[in-house]
Amino acid sequence: MKKPVYLNHAATSNQKFPTTIVALTDYLTTNNNLTLNRGTHDLAQLKLIFEARQTIARFFHAPDPAHVIFTANATMSLNMILNGLLKPGDHVLASSLEHNAVARPLALLEKQGVEVTYLTCNKAGWLDPEQIPTAIKPQTKALILTHASNVLGTILPIKECFQQAKQQGLITILDSAQTAGFLPIDMQNLGVDILAFTGHKSLMGLTGIGGFALATGLEAMIAPWLTGGTGSQSQSLQQPSCLPDKFEAGTMNTLGILSLKTSIEQIETIGLATIMQHERTLTERFLAGLKLLPVRILGTQEAVQSVPVVSIVSDKIGCGELAQLLADRYQIITRSGLHCAPLAHQTADTLDTGAVRFSFGWFTTLEEVDYTLQALQEICSTLV
Ligand code: ALA
Repeated sequence: MKKPVYLNHAATSNQKFPTTIVALTDYLTTNNNLTLNRGTHDLAQLKLIFEARQTIARFFHAPDPAHVIFTANATMSLNMILNGLLKPGDHVLASSLEHNAVARPLALLEKQGVEVTYLTCNKAGWLDPEQIPTAIKPQTKALILTHASNVLGTILPIKECFQQAKQQGLITILDSAQTAGFLPIDMQNLGVDILAFTGHKSLMGLTGIGGFALATGLEAMIAPWLTGGTGSQSQSLQQPSCLPDKFEAGTMNTLGILSLKTSIEQIETIGLATIMQHERTLTERFLAGLKLLPVRILGTQEAVQSVPVVSIVSDKIGCGELAQLLADRYQIITRSGLHCAPLAHQTADTLDTGAVRFSFGWFTTLEEVDYTLQALQEICSTLV
């Protein structure tokens, strides 16, 4: 078995598809490395970026390729969406599992007069959609939810929650950082108005590429937060109002975009169902083994209700020390601490302890899962 054993896919995918590596190498070694809309030889660039928008629109069932906006990552997308949408006096709903990519922009907006209500999930991360109608006020503008917790792994009932929200005229925003590339996401079927995604996790692209997709008509409700050169309507000092230019300024990350296009194409070739089945098998095996050990497992403890993320706490050893032992003695890479999600840890009652998180990806093997269980068993047997 190849070491180190990388079990931190919820943070980033460490390995890329061979087709992506070939496409990136080819791009860098040919004369395609020009800049979009700002030169005279940019047809290849225009084509690549347009095709990438088409691929992403198809993958998420977005209404139109022009409604796919490229950003650096989900954090940037969420900042652009929340700051562009919410005004003083507005009220917004979110869940008690949100990552700091949502909670910190909301905390800043609270200082500017936006009111935020966090809907309480239970300890395992389950959110009851019936809470939503009672939390809505006349000034409630939007409901923003993470699709799955990056700590507990729990998948939220998005369709039911967004149905409740839309019945009351709310804008629905989905943070798909932990699900895109693992769960199928159909914006229309799930009732998603704005979908924020990142490219480097289960979508298997490079870091530094992400974006958001908008349902029809939403573009008029969001003010541009990032402004600058678009290579279009340059005589005006105002940001163009057409899509995607309204939300894209500055030189595009063409390498990132290419990586995302090719990796999504490869995911489509493998099939999301195959990917999900593989990663669920790994999660099931890991959970079954963990249940025999003296540790507390966070989340639902059910692979079918989770993304391939499992966090544990031991009352015999701190999470940092356990993660370090796994790394030093066994070359197993995990992530310990609060995972940039203090709200989720508060929900799980682990804000004081943190947790050690194991997360699996397409390239993780059953052998690696068994090896990790063996390592945990050995460590646990030495603890008093
Ligand atoms: N949000 C990422 C994680 O969970 C960085 O590790």
